[in-house]
Parts: sequence; structure tokens; C-alpha cells
Amino acid sequence: MKELIKLIDIKKTFFVDSKEIEILKGINLTIYEGDFVAIIGASGSGKSTLMNIIGCMDRPTSGQYYLAGRDVLSLNDDELSFLRNEFIGFVFQQFHLIGYAKAIENVILPTIYSRQDQKNVKHRAIELLKMVNMEHRINSKPNQLSGGEQQRVAIARALINNPQIILADEPTGALDSKTSNEIMDIFTNLNNNGKTIIIITHEKDIAGRAKKIIKISDGIIV
Ligand SMILES: Nc1ncnc2c1ncn2[C@@H]1O[C@H](COP(=O)(O)OP(=O)(O)OP(=O)(O)O)[C@@H](O)[C@H]1O
Ligand SMILES: [Mg+2]
Repeated sequence: MKELIKLIDIKKTFFVDSKEIEILKGINLTIYEGDFVAIIGASGSGKSTLMNIIGCMDRPTSGQYYLAGRDVLSLNDDELSFLRNEFIGFVFQQFHLIGYAKAIENVILPTIYSRQDQKNVKHRAIELLKMVNMEHRINSKPNQLSGGEQQRVAIARALINNPQIILADEPTGALDSKTSNEIMDIFTNLNNNGKTIIIITHEKDIAGRAKKIIKISDGIIV
């Protein structure tokens, strides 16, 4: 299998009250094309910190990171944004939809950074909303939707640029167990169709639906 994400001895320190605290203490992790990985660990263990690094939203203090063969840490901020946009779709616990925008407008939003034909984009957005069973609500705004429905829209948004990787931080954390399972069904389908899925969760049942479980504890992978 082809390596998609390779982290070598990744460390991350934060300054809190002018004291340096090491949160990630040397993470080594390889994720392959087509993987479905759950990252688990106690609250405060550094899961979101790691996700921000994998998602090219933050840089480590030291270490090496290769994404699809590119040396991520050698890129400048613009190049990093470009790479992120091309490769990664994000899903968050609190959905992060734009409140004043309709479902379809939320799905289309990530394409404003890429030069794509708007007619095609709209067509694709509708196809994606169909895929997550939200085609009947394309003109609804987030406050008119349930949590599970909002997360479906957020997943469609994460897919609009056709990224190879879906990175989801506690995607079911705000949902009941039935809805959580429906959302995990969507991730399973996407994985069966070739997407690489990385989810962060503290729920055992949710982690159990991934193909691999990686546990982070005390800043390292155990
Ligand atoms: N920007 C920051 N500045 C200072 N400390 C930070 C910063 N970001 C995270 N931390 C600290 O790093 C530690 C790990 O945080 P992180 O958000 O990665 O944990 P987590 O595993 O995602 O936890 P949870 O399950 O609660 O979401 C915490 O102690 C947190 O306070
Ligand atoms: Mg977190």
C-alpha cells in the first residue's frame, strides 16, 4: 500500500504562562492510502494538536511530515493552504457551518479558493447532498436542521474539493448514538469508495468502526 501521511518524530510544545509544555513528544505515524484510522486517547492527550498538524493547520516544533510525498514543513503558508485544500476535507464536532448560508451554499464554500466552473460546482454539491441523504434540505439553513443533518451537510462540504483524505475531530461528539452510527455509515461508505478516513474520538464504539485504532497517551503513540 502507498504511504499517504508520514510523521517522523513530531514534537509540539506550547508556552503556557511563559512555561514550555511538551504536548507531543515524538509521534511516529504512517497512514496509507485507503486507511480508516481512529485516533483515541484521554482528554488533553494531544489528539486535536496532532490533528491540526496532520491537517496542515499548525506546524510542529520539530520533526518531519510528508503528505503524499511532499515535505510539508518546507512549504510556506500559501503553499500549505493549497496542499490542505487539495488533499484534506475537514469535519468537526460542532459542524462549523455558516449560520446565514443555506446548506448548498455551505457545501460550495470551500470551492471559492479554487478556480472551478460554478455550474459544475453546484451540480457536484447537489450530488454530494444526495449522497448524504440531504437533497430535500438543500435550501435549509443550519438552525433549521438537526445536529445529525448539519453533520451530513458538513461531510458534503468536506468532499466538495474531492480530497483524498477526510480528517474528522470528534465528528459524533455532539450526536446521539443512533445518529452517530448513521454518520459512521457514511464514513464507512466513503472509505469503501477509496477515501482515506482519519477520525479522532474518545468513544470506544465509534473507534471500533475504524479498521485501525491508534492510541495516543502522554504525548506518544502506544
Ligand atoms: N494553543 C495552545 N496553547 C497552549 N496550550 C495548548 C494549546 N493547544 C492545546 N494546548 C494544550 O495541549 C494539551 C492537549 O490539547 P488537545 O486539544 O490536543 O487535547 P485533546 O486530546 O484533543 O483533548 P480533548 O479530548 O479534550 O479534545 C492540553 O493540555 C491543552 O491545554
Ligand atoms: Mg480535542
